[in-house]
Amino acid sequence: MLQHFLTGLELDQTKILKLLKLAQNIKNQPQEYANALTGKSIVTLYEKPSLRTRLSFDIGINKLGGHAVYLDQQNGAMGNRESVKDFALNISAWADGLVARVNHHSTLNTLAEHASIPVVNSLCNLYHPCQALADFLTLQEVHGDVSQLKLAYLGEGNNVTHSLMLLAATLGTDFVAVCPKGHSPDAQIVKQAEQIAAANGASVLISDRVEAAVGANALYADTWVSMGNNACLEQVKQTFMPYQINAALLQQTGASTVLHCQPAHREYEITSEVMDGKNSKIIQQAENRMHAQNALLVSLLNPNYV
Ligand code: CP
Ligand code: NVA
Repeated sequence: MLQHFLTGLELDQTKILKLLKLAQNIKNQPQEYANALTGKSIVTLYEKPSLRTRLSFDIGINKLGGHAVYLDQQNGAMGNRESVKDFALNISAWADGLVARVNHHSTLNTLAEHASIPVVNSLCNLYHPCQALADFLTLQEVHGDVSQLKLAYLGEGNNVTHSLMLLAATLGTDFVAVCPKGHSPDAQIVKQAEQIAAANGASVLISDRVEAAVGANALYADTWVSMGNNACLEQVKQTFMPYQINAALLQQTGASTVLHCQPAHREYEITSEVMDGKNSKIIQQAENRMHAQNALLVSLLNPNYV
């Protein structure tokens, strides 16, 4: 049984495909899963702000009959008022699961080391694996077999890029990250993704030229300035503007689908014309956060339903 979900690499291709199928079933037949988490309490802990993650976990857990408890840092920051280890030990004494959005991946490792309940990464500096599950659920809904696709990410190489790249590699999707010089994804994670992709008949390409995205079925954007980065969008605009997803780029690449994990900054990483246009699956993608996460929670906490 899966114990924690910290990087996404805990699941191989077969298990991810099974999870996506479960997510689709939960989405299509929610009444069948209305008691899947009855009697379970899940703490969702945040060191950073959130709209989608907070609401999709909270509302999603409620739809499965479970109880979500929101824990921010207002009432005693983790590692400050008490240690990360003591957070893990205490939360484990009452709750059945812990979903954590943290500044540093090492915090998740410490939580998982000391928790006696499953720990799920809901974003850290290196990964956003719940987001990638929703992204591939959406690609599957729109395009069918994702192993036949080419996916191009444009912008800053970051946590979202890493998880997208690793899941693409796992599922056999060709992946291109188009990032300005000095903003490429982490070299070690790229290497890891290349190895996984090779085993699954797929490719990983990192480039600073937008031409590398030509032929992609889907284009993907994230903010140019992630949480915790003190730069402002105006400061980085000049560097990143050539990577904006706009109508001209859609035409140049021939892509038919546009994704964005959000929060989006209209007229920066994506134009309103594209975000609100017919190629955009961004709201479907946001909805799918809930279904993908619910599938993950059911797999972790009540495998009888899987
Ligand atoms: N995509 C995403 O994780 O959004 P939030 O930061 O609003 O949770
Ligand atoms: N890369 C972004 C993702 C937000 C969902 C960040 O870390 O802020």
